[in-house]
Amino acid sequence: MSAVAPPPVSESPLARILDDVRGELTAHGSFPPGLTDFNVERTHRMSRDPLPILLAAYERYGPVFSVRIMHMRQVFMLGPRANHHVLVSHADNFRWRESSFGDLIPLLGDGLLTIDGDYHRRARRIMLPGFHREAIAASAQTMVAEADRALEEWEVGEAIDVYAWTRRLAMRIAMRALLGLDPDDADKGALAAEHFERALAFYGTEYPLRILRGPRTPWRRMQASRGVLDEIVYAEIARRRTGSGSGRGDVLSMLLEATDEEGARLSDREVRDQATTLMFAGHDTTTSTISFLLYELARHPHALARVVAEQDRVLGGRSPGPAELHSQLPELAMALDETLRLYPAAWIGPRRAVEGFELEGRHVPAGAYVNYCSWASHRLPEVFPEPEAFVPERFSPDRRAALPKGAYVPFGGGSRTCIGMRFGQMEIKAIVTRLLQRFHPELKPGRTMTVRQMPTLSPRGGMPMLVRERLGAEETVVGSLASET
Ligand code: HEM
Repeated sequence: MSAVAPPPVSESPLARILDDVRGELTAHGSFPPGLTDFNVERTHRMSRDPLPILLAAYERYGPVFSVRIMHMRQVFMLGPRANHHVLVSHADNFRWRESSFGDLIPLLGDGLLTIDGDYHRRARRIMLPGFHREAIAASAQTMVAEADRALEEWEVGEAIDVYAWTRRLAMRIAMRALLGLDPDDADKGALAAEHFERALAFYGTEYPLRILRGPRTPWRRMQASRGVLDEIVYAEIARRRTGSGSGRGDVLSMLLEATDEEGARLSDREVRDQATTLMFAGHDTTTSTISFLLYELARHPHALARVVAEQDRVLGGRSPGPAELHSQLPELAMALDETLRLYPAAWIGPRRAVEGFELEGRHVPAGAYVNYCSWASHRLPEVFPEPEAFVPERFSPDRRAALPKGAYVPFGGGSRTCIGMRFGQMEIKAIVTRLLQRFHPELKPGRTMTVRQMPTLSPRGGMPMLVRERLGAEETVVGSLASET
């Protein structure tokens, strides 16, 4: 199959803004109705708290509507049918690279998140075996060992920012399981981790600062960190190519060894782009989900008690293995699914429409910026009654099977479903299991959590929690209720 890398995308913000404005002016056919006036306050609110705006627009205009954000008219598509249209039935009509995913190219290059068509299909086919259940099983041990090591820091009675703690831990796991680097090696793993975090920070910066260029701008800092990271990753690729350190069972080895059906391998540049993309796509998402899961379990003693009882029954104090993490902890799995319903970390799926189309009685023109939104779709009361409530039983096998197609999409869907889904789920379950086997997390009294959504959902200002001694299942409920009064 001939699959060539796509042409580069302009890194000039001005050129891209002009292109967007031109695109809207020359679009054929009307856009769906919605909040289309230029409105600075709405633009600001969309960047801080978009959920109420999207849900109100859905009520008023239906599942397909427009929202002007800064200079751009964006189309939002909510609900099961819209999600299924974008992700599955008409997925080929939507490009990732020409959407705001394109903003990631300066850091990620041409990895899975920023390519389309045959080039994407080839890369995905080469990479997929590396994410099969058996292939990632080896990482379970790394995840458990790193979780145990990180839990050594915890002491009963202390307060801990669970979000910051998980971030450090997830980065160590990524270094070992994805890149095969030692996170304690100051010249490699630790340096790569530090610069990866710095480069990531660029994408959490407010848009007006992100478009600045020149010395001492966030852009320049991101470029500098990318340079350091690339040096480490390319050196590691070269080392593996010469035979030293290959076949180690990490994802980088898999990328280096994988071939397509004609026997062709990924080039060094492709391996670098894909490895950086995997780190990017997996880091924030996994970290935030662990924090949100612990938050909800701490607020719901009965759900926590079921998870604790299950641990005692299935593991009896032992570390979980890959099979247990995969399917033998259903209470934990349901709590995780419900957490991802309420807080799907990758909350928005940006696309650009290739051809115009009709959906739910609305016309969307060719070239429109289109977004599906799991966060808002998961809060529609006609699909998930009492959408604000944390109810893990919604994901019992029967109730899950009864959900309409496209209703629940925390990992996207169709042929581009999150490639790291199993890896991420295993990591979350491994860390949360080890933590709850030893401690009882309690929310700091009086603290309310708000959600930040840039670039992915995360708890604004971290997730401070109090470390308590682990209780048995029954005491978990009694103890938590007592501490509430
Ligand atoms: C809880 C954890 C995670 C969540 C919630 C999550 C969510 C998602 C979502 C929603 C998408 C599709 C985006 C869209 O349709 O626009 C996606 C794609 C992707 N994810 Fe994840 N992800 C998680 C963990 C991971 C991990 C651990 C990795 C890597 C090891 C990863 C790698 C990727 C990649 C490479 C894609 C693009 C796939 C493609 O286009 O073929 N993710 N993820």
